[in-house]
Amino acid sequence: MAEITANIQVAPGIFRMSVAGAYAGKMGQFYMLRAWDKTPLLSRPISIYSLDAEEIHFLYQVVGEGTRILSMLQAGDEITLEGPFGNGFPELNGKVALVGGGIGIAPFYYALQSLPQADVYLGFSQKPYEVDHFKRITDRVTVNVGGHILDLVDYEAYDAIFVCGPNAMMQAAQRLNERWSGRNKVYVSLENRMACGVGACLVCSVGTTGGRKKSCVDGPVFAVEEVKSW
Ligand SMILES: Cc1cc2nc3c(=O)[nH]c(=O)nc-3n(C[C@H](O)[C@H](O)[C@H](O)COP(=O)(O)OP(=O)(O)OC[C@H]3O[C@@H](n4cnc5c(N)ncnc54)[C@H](O)[C@@H]3O)c2cc1C
Ligand code: FES
Repeated sequence: MAEITANIQVAPGIFRMSVAGAYAGKMGQFYMLRAWDKTPLLSRPISIYSLDAEEIHFLYQVVGEGTRILSMLQAGDEITLEGPFGNGFPELNGKVALVGGGIGIAPFYYALQSLPQADVYLGFSQKPYEVDHFKRITDRVTVNVGGHILDLVDYEAYDAIFVCGPNAMMQAAQRLNERWSGRNKVYVSLENRMACGVGACLVCSVGTTGGRKKSCVDGPVFAVEEVKSW
């Protein structure tokens, strides 16, 4: 169990939670969060939003029972964290674009801390949030509201493009990659439902060119051309 030090609503239905403790993790990895006993049954996967020597931070959207319970927690309450899980984004040289849609921006704040030279693209359907955090690290932040953030990314300008957002956005990233076949460099972080987070239950199974894989241990980050079912 760990102590929550803050759990702040940063936009309608969007919370940033800080938990005390020294945690490990690479960009794109996630933790399984649990702040209840029996119900709901399963822990919830949430990406590392930020990490320092004393705290770990998560940015999450309230969508159902689990995240609703998380949103009601206050500083001083306790939570159970297991992780870090997953493979995370590859550490590549060259020019990188980080492209997040909605709550899909969550893994990219930590990624930007690892890749401060990256260009950041943040897309929102409504009022943006956390943009000032990103701008504290770089001035190369492009924000779009109500449009398609991927349309603003010049595919040819980058050696690697990391994408996280709604499935429709990641499918669009796949089409973009196909249009420029032979220059595969787009990586997506999938948000499949998960139960165990450690490869034991197959709930998170994803169809790939290499057969069925487990998003929790083989992903959640995949080269986009590898993904066959979303
Ligand atoms: C790797 C990863 C990283 C993520 N990072 C973030 C993040 O940083 N911020 C964020 O806001 N969200 C993130 N998500 C999404 C987040 O996990 C979900 O929004 C959250 O689990 C929803 O839980 P809930 O109880 O609020 O919603 P509900 O929809 O009520 O419950 C969803 C949970 O029920 C279970 N479940 C529901 N349907 C199925 C099914 N068909 N098969 C198996 N199990 C099922 C799963 O455990 C699932 O997590 C991430 C997801 C993944 C996979
Ligand atoms: S969540 Fe159980 S195998 Fe991936």
